[in-house]
Amino acid sequence: MKKNIVTIGFGSIAADLIQQLQAQSTRYAVAVLLRPGSQSRSRVPTDIAVLEDIAQVCEFAPDLVVEAAGHQSVRDTVPALLAAGFPVLLSSIGALGDDEFRSRLEWTAMEHGTRIMLASGALGALDYVRAVRDAREPVITYESRKPVKAWEAELRQLGQEPETLSESITLFEGSARQAAAAYPQNLNVAAALALAGTGFEGIRVKVVCDPELQSNVHLVRVDSELGSFEARIANSPSKSNPKSSQIVAHSLHSAIGQFFAPIVIL
Ligand SMILES: NC(=O)c1ccc[n+]([C@@H]2O[C@H](COP(=O)([O-])OP(=O)(O)OC[C@H]3O[C@@H](n4cnc5c(N)ncnc54)[C@H](O)[C@@H]3O)[C@@H](O)[C@H]2O)c1
Repeated sequence: MKKNIVTIGFGSIAADLIQQLQAQSTRYAVAVLLRPGSQSRSRVPTDIAVLEDIAQVCEFAPDLVVEAAGHQSVRDTVPALLAAGFPVLLSSIGALGDDEFRSRLEWTAMEHGTRIMLASGALGALDYVRAVRDAREPVITYESRKPVKAWEAELRQLGQEPETLSESITLFEGSARQAAAAYPQNLNVAAALALAGTGFEGIRVKVVCDPELQSNVHLVRVDSELGSFEARIANSPSKSNPKSSQIVAHSLHSAIGQFFAPIVIL
């Protein structure tokens, strides 16, 4: 029996994900939820249904909705999707840095017997972080290091010329909450770590632009009474959006597989 999947948006990640799902056309039927008049419409493959509102989503009856469209899309669409009873897999996890909005989503999901799931996305190690969070005072730090291409607009705002940057520059140091709000496209992984671990105020985040790098690097360090853990992940940037990484669509694809699988790796 095919599973119906709706993606919110058709940007870099959603397009890559849909390509992977279409390669498994015996398992999945896919539709895309776009805003009315969206410029992405002309890029959606002709064999994929385009939906424009929640009523059309309900008609398509998704087994799972997958968001890869940014924080605002979470605000715009996810409350109604949960209220209609659909489970939602999120990649824009930083949207949950707003405690009031997150608890509204939690209540809506509970009330309508459904769930919000958060993809690992560009990061790994969330299982370890989740396991360690009840230890005595675990210390979790996260450093994001990305090439200049991922930070061109932000560098210009700081009065730096991206083309001539020769040394790494620290763009941000602070809490995961501040990081997710300040960099909605780049710091979703900090929010994922916060929710898996010690909360939005409990994780120290550093953001560095490094002109020597070709990949998007994530450094996670955890110290607790249970031991210590260090992870370094170097992701290939997405070809169409240097702020995102190619692995994110694969992470969503794998999470979809897990959602329907009889054996689940937690
Ligand atoms: N968790 C992670 O590791 C991780 C990593 C990278 C990106 N992300 C998240 O994924 C998002 C998408 O990344 P991308 O590289 O595909 O970006 P992108 O800019 O290529 O695509 C975003 C798409 O979403 C569409 N969109 C925006 N608002 C919408 C709405 N309300 N309804 C429907 N569509 C809407 C846009 O038209 C665009 O096509 C990012 O903004 C970020 O929040 C998460």
